[in-house]
Amino acid sequence: RASLPQLDSAAADRSDEETGGDVIDWDNLGFGLTPTDYMYVMRCAPDQDGGVFSRGELARYGNIELSPSSGVINYGQGLFEGLKAYRAPTNDCSRKGSYMLFRPEENALRMQHGAERMCMPSPSVEQFVHAVKQTVLANRRWVPPQGKGALYIRPLLIGSGPILGLAPAPEYTFLIYAAPVGTYFKEGLSPINLLVEDEIHRAMPGGTGGVKTITNYAPVLKPQMDAKSKGFSDVLYLDAVHRRYIEEASSCNLFIVKGGVVATPATVGTILPGITRKSIIELARDRGYQVEERLVSIDDLIDADEVFCTGTAVVVAPVSTVTHQGQRYEFRTGQDTLSQALYTTLTSIQMGLAEDKKGWTVAI
Ligand code: COI
Repeated sequence: RASLPQLDSAAADRSDEETGGDVIDWDNLGFGLTPTDYMYVMRCAPDQDGGVFSRGELARYGNIELSPSSGVINYGQGLFEGLKAYRAPTNDCSRKGSYMLFRPEENALRMQHGAERMCMPSPSVEQFVHAVKQTVLANRRWVPPQGKGALYIRPLLIGSGPILGLAPAPEYTFLIYAAPVGTYFKEGLSPINLLVEDEIHRAMPGGTGGVKTITNYAPVLKPQMDAKSKGFSDVLYLDAVHRRYIEEASSCNLFIVKGGVVATPATVGTILPGITRKSIIELARDRGYQVEERLVSIDDLIDADEVFCTGTAVVVAPVSTVTHQGQRYEFRTGQDTLSQALYTTLTSIQMGLAEDKKGWTVAI
């Protein structure tokens, strides 16, 4: 088992002197890529080190060298994760100057689960969380001021070694980079409009929809671009067998609310087990809602009072309309909705503005 270096205060010292605010406009952060200063890199060659990642290190953010025959480029052997670091409130002396992560060990475990499916070795939970902390500290000048956004952290696990025949790559790279972000959708915090896709499916039973492999994402670009060109925010996919049950959107999970009951598609292998999804289920139950993880049909959706999406990038996004086969359905949005209440509760915990009774946050 690889030993972990101490949290390196030099990582924080390396964060360049000037603040990111000198070069970016914190008030207009979207979800674009602002390159930051450092990335974290750790490698593993199963034949030589028995599938155990050894000590990684920070490197200047920049291009990486890959063989043209690397497993990730040729056969898509790769996973990614997404999590955010928030700047802790400056009026809280005990946390002054620190940063908050949200359930990073859940990302580590999800990566391990995905790695198993994709025949890759994966970092331990401790290695993963340590690397995330190092990346945040080294890029701390890019963590937006409170209320302006977050530092989005993108861990990758890729088959970086060369391979020609279809087989697992001989070497793997775990890499984390980060970028300051604001809201994911161009609508900002305003409600979004979804288009139900009938022909193209995101996942199928026995496939990889339930793990965060890179190969789940490029195939949804076409329907997503088509929907965006028609003014929709994202696409909602139906199951590939019955074409009747809602799965998820390209970038997030989906919830419906009817009376005191909340429902979301069960994670049966075609649904990405979102960490925000899991947290929202718990927070909705805490508010007295009955939460069902089950099949959610298109008819259930149409009949709902309220619809919302969840994800790390998306957070909690209210849905004002869903269009299916040319028919547009409207849902409740605004201050007096469950999604608004859940958004406030979740983000208050994530940003350190509310007491974290669940032990979800990790301060750095
Ligand atoms: C995230 O929410 O972190 C994701 O990975 C979704 C991605 C499409 C931005």
